[in-house]
Amino acid sequence: MAEAKLEAWLEENRRYAPSPDFSARANAQPGIYELADADPEGWWRQQAERLTWDQTPTKILEWDAPFARWFSDGTLNASVNCVDRHVAAGRGDQVAFHWIADAVGETRTITYAQLLEMVAQAANALQELGVRAGDRVAMYMPMIPEAVVAMLAIVRLGAMHSVVFGGFSADALASRILDSDCHFVITADGAFRRGTASPLKPAVDEALKSCPNVQAVLVVRRTEGEVDWVPGRDHWWHEVVQRQSVQHRPESFPAEQPLFLMYTSGTTAKPKGIFHTTAGYLTQVATTYFYVFDAKPDSDVCWTAADIGWITGHSYIVYGPLINGVTQVMYEGLPDSDGKDRWWRIIEEYGVTMLYTAPTTIRTLMKWGDEYPQSRDLSSLRLLGSVGEPINPEAWMWYREQVGRNNCPIVDTWWQTETGALMISPLPGISVTKPGAGMRALPGIQVAIVDNEGRHLGKGEGGYLTITHPWPSMTRGIYGDPERFFETYWSRFPGSYFAGDGAKYDSDGDIWLLGRVDDVMNVSGHRLSTTEIEHALVGHHAVAEAAVVGASDDLTGQAVVAFVTLKAHSETSDDHAAIIEQLRIHVATQISPIARPRQIILTPELPKTRSGKIMRRLLRDVAEHRSLGDVTTLTDPTVVAMIAGLMEIHASSDD
Ligand code: PRX
Repeated sequence: MAEAKLEAWLEENRRYAPSPDFSARANAQPGIYELADADPEGWWRQQAERLTWDQTPTKILEWDAPFARWFSDGTLNASVNCVDRHVAAGRGDQVAFHWIADAVGETRTITYAQLLEMVAQAANALQELGVRAGDRVAMYMPMIPEAVVAMLAIVRLGAMHSVVFGGFSADALASRILDSDCHFVITADGAFRRGTASPLKPAVDEALKSCPNVQAVLVVRRTEGEVDWVPGRDHWWHEVVQRQSVQHRPESFPAEQPLFLMYTSGTTAKPKGIFHTTAGYLTQVATTYFYVFDAKPDSDVCWTAADIGWITGHSYIVYGPLINGVTQVMYEGLPDSDGKDRWWRIIEEYGVTMLYTAPTTIRTLMKWGDEYPQSRDLSSLRLLGSVGEPINPEAWMWYREQVGRNNCPIVDTWWQTETGALMISPLPGISVTKPGAGMRALPGIQVAIVDNEGRHLGKGEGGYLTITHPWPSMTRGIYGDPERFFETYWSRFPGSYFAGDGAKYDSDGDIWLLGRVDDVMNVSGHRLSTTEIEHALVGHHAVAEAAVVGASDDLTGQAVVAFVTLKAHSETSDDHAAIIEQLRIHVATQISPIARPRQIILTPELPKTRSGKIMRRLLRDVAEHRSLGDVTTLTDPTVVAMIAGLMEIHASSDD
């Protein structure tokens, strides 16, 4: 215990100042916070000058809580901001993407001029297929350049993309297509994972059986595998896109033109379509990319190691970096797709200067051993970023020492699908960082940690993280459900946005993020809803009741643990191991392999309060092998003890 306290003290008191060399050249210079604090709206007006406008806005913020409009009388085109303007400025020969395939050997280099031609062709093709401004286009794609091209082509037309992560099931894809009534889908025949092709289009075909409004499917040829084809509906990318003109005249759209939808899990079974619009979002992703990632377009090679199926890919592979005009590495595969040193080889070969990834990946790379990063020249790196979940100090230190060679600032960036862009993070060149601390809100962002009653807390205190003022890239709502938007985010602490996260101020007043305080889990940086998984489990014919909790896990941050009671007829089956396996597969196919429970405990009963509510708190204690607290409110306190016993039996039989 004394040792743990000492460790905690050390963590809070370990500090790393940026090197004078980094600070001297950093985009963020002292005084930046004061400048923004003095006039946050003025700050954002100035930042909006990073964009190329057709009509410069005169308005900044219109706020009718919880609905914000930013720069509303300005007009612009998102895709022009990402591509055309760099070419027009004479930077067409600069590489936009070094794309590296999963399996060894295949690479592509795409300059900004080439990217512009690809986007123009795709926009012409989509127009020919019938896509118009305001339409929603679903995407279900691997990590290939066409995914970026498709996103930019869609928004060039004033339509919205709704990218669904390629690991989601056909059911999950269908529900997202239906929720926003997409009439178009862009996909690929398949994807590669560790050199092996796996099909993608069958999931689209399956999903579309329940989506009669989809009129066209555009399919990129990626794997050469067999493909089922629906004539009239399905179109090959290489046939329809590549015959188009490489010229496309972009239209200008209002600042608040819808840009994209990104579905994310909440505390209910139904995923929410988080809705973003154009100019505010682009302003904040561009600004944060410039300051937090210290973007230097002429010399940087940046690598956001995320999938474009998540918000990190949208904001920090597509919009933020492209608006800043940097060169990026885009990698299709897994960290060990071709050996456990694949990432380090990529950094060495391409001279990567900035790496942005999730703590789960850092912990995995750390587990594989120091010899892999040690065997490569990583001296090109000058900045490291972390995102998606709280980073434990041990992983932070490893990242700093083994990857950054004690020479790179680490930015631990807190944000969400809903916030659109970074909100809390150190600023490299200015911040003295601490392993595991988010530090403070970025310039122009105002947050408060509050107690249960909404009272603002101070140094050394912990509570709920709220955002007290509107910000440009904030979600404009949940698609088609304004009431749910208000209920979910704005009702708990009236007037403030409640993110769902706990946080504390340390004794210096710096912010530490503590993870979710609601029924949302964070597994490997992916957000999962306990309710959604419970819903999937009770959808299985053998299951009577299910309760799901997130238990802490050394590698994935949290892991899914499910407690399940079976229906009477299934109870008689002796083969519990087979049922458990069936249930795990069931969840993976209903939602996604990411949601597959690490552990399923079959129990004759679940612990409930006298009013019939399942006591998840107790189940979390059981799943994390903690001693049980007060159980007197339970109808039958012996139930938890029994479940704890079952858990131990499972644990020992797993070994
Ligand atoms: O709990 C927080 C956690 O991830 C949640 C947002 O998930 P999502 O919308 O999928 O976006 C992930 C990528 C931005 C948050 O509510 N989270 C994100 N970044 C951090 C984090 N928790 C701690 N530290 C972070 N840096």
